[in-house]
Amino acid sequence: MGLTLYRNARLVTLDGAAAWGLVEHGAMLLDGSRLSWVGAQRDLPRGLAVEREHDLEGRLATPGLIDCHTHLVYAGDRAREFELRLQGASYEQIARAGGGIRATVAATRSASDDQLLASARRRALALMAEGVTTVEIKSGYGLSLEHEARLLRVARRLGEVLPLTVRATCLAAHALPPEFDGRADEYVDAVCAWLPRLHAEGLVDAVDAFCDRIGFTPAQTRRVFEAARALGLPVKLHAEQLSDQGGARLAAQFGALSCDHLEYLGDDGVAAMAQAGTVAVLLPGAFYFLGETRLPPVEKLRAAGVPMAVATDHNPGSSPTLSPLLMLNMACTLFRLTPEQALLGMTAIAAKALGLADRGRLAAGQRADFAVWDLEHPNELAYRFGGGNPCRLVVNAGAERTA
Ligand code: NIG
Ligand code: FE
Repeated sequence: MGLTLYRNARLVTLDGAAAWGLVEHGAMLLDGSRLSWVGAQRDLPRGLAVEREHDLEGRLATPGLIDCHTHLVYAGDRAREFELRLQGASYEQIARAGGGIRATVAATRSASDDQLLASARRRALALMAEGVTTVEIKSGYGLSLEHEARLLRVARRLGEVLPLTVRATCLAAHALPPEFDGRADEYVDAVCAWLPRLHAEGLVDAVDAFCDRIGFTPAQTRRVFEAARALGLPVKLHAEQLSDQGGARLAAQFGALSCDHLEYLGDDGVAAMAQAGTVAVLLPGAFYFLGETRLPPVEKLRAAGVPMAVATDHNPGSSPTLSPLLMLNMACTLFRLTPEQALLGMTAIAAKALGLADRGRLAAGQRADFAVWDLEHPNELAYRFGGGNPCRLVVNAGAERTA
């Protein structure tokens, strides 16, 4: 395949010293699925055999968005629980009464593979329409070997049927399934026994757990992490979402790629994450939708040099959003990230949260994953909210997909 040129763009490379890595009158050269040259058009090397040329008419081009925390594969919805919460019930109370994650597990177990794929595909298309080129998808609504495997297979399949990179994370330690009531330790034994089988089928890129009062204890989480480590799989953690369990400290001991949520993260957790190089994944959608008032310690994370990612956390219970752009806005309005930090959080730093070094910036050698926007300046990505999608074009590994 010959070279492809995209010219006449305002490049938001997120690379180099300039704010946003902005390059006016920029051009990108693609060699198949990779960027082979990125810079100001006047510096473009002469005498290249360019096969195809696209004029971006002065539009903004950013790296493709990376949604590094979603639960995209499930059946049913939890709109009724939303009503109950508005009448005063808490997320935790609903979960303890058998609703919450368990309600989605029941709906998901009785859905067919085709139904799960069709609904996940619709959700993925909505994310892609707003510029997403890589998505992480967690299991965690199956909670048995058979059903967790089904969810992970659907996630893998999605990456085959769509121009989208899918990273699959096993979150079997999400909640206790009813058949293990009162036997959480035995359930954790089961999860540790499933992991090698799921991994042998090529279904697992990382392992996650929900460490909280309504999830698993740090001791149980540790056992899941040890099973992951024995397989050479990286770990991540739903940590300190509803209470401070010391989950982030534990995850850092295992060199976790990321700790996610973090509203109740303490100073010791911040320090441990900084030392381990663990990414903090901020999830403003869940914070907003659950009416949380305790903010993640963004100032402290920033001061300690902990990289911060931003994701949708799409799921039916705590964050039923399909708008990565809205999350950029909320990361700024609710968590006080700067618009540039928010975009970095959904590109370069999100890539780090997934252990991917080949994407997230516009630079030679990176995958040719980018989005083109009808906007003047990248700060508008976080400024606008709720509709009027400005995404004009999405390119994944060099292949165009008109949004
Ligand atoms: O990221 N905290 C646990 N997991 C999900 C919510 C899952 C659900 O409520 O279905 C989260 O918020
Ligand atoms: Fe989550």
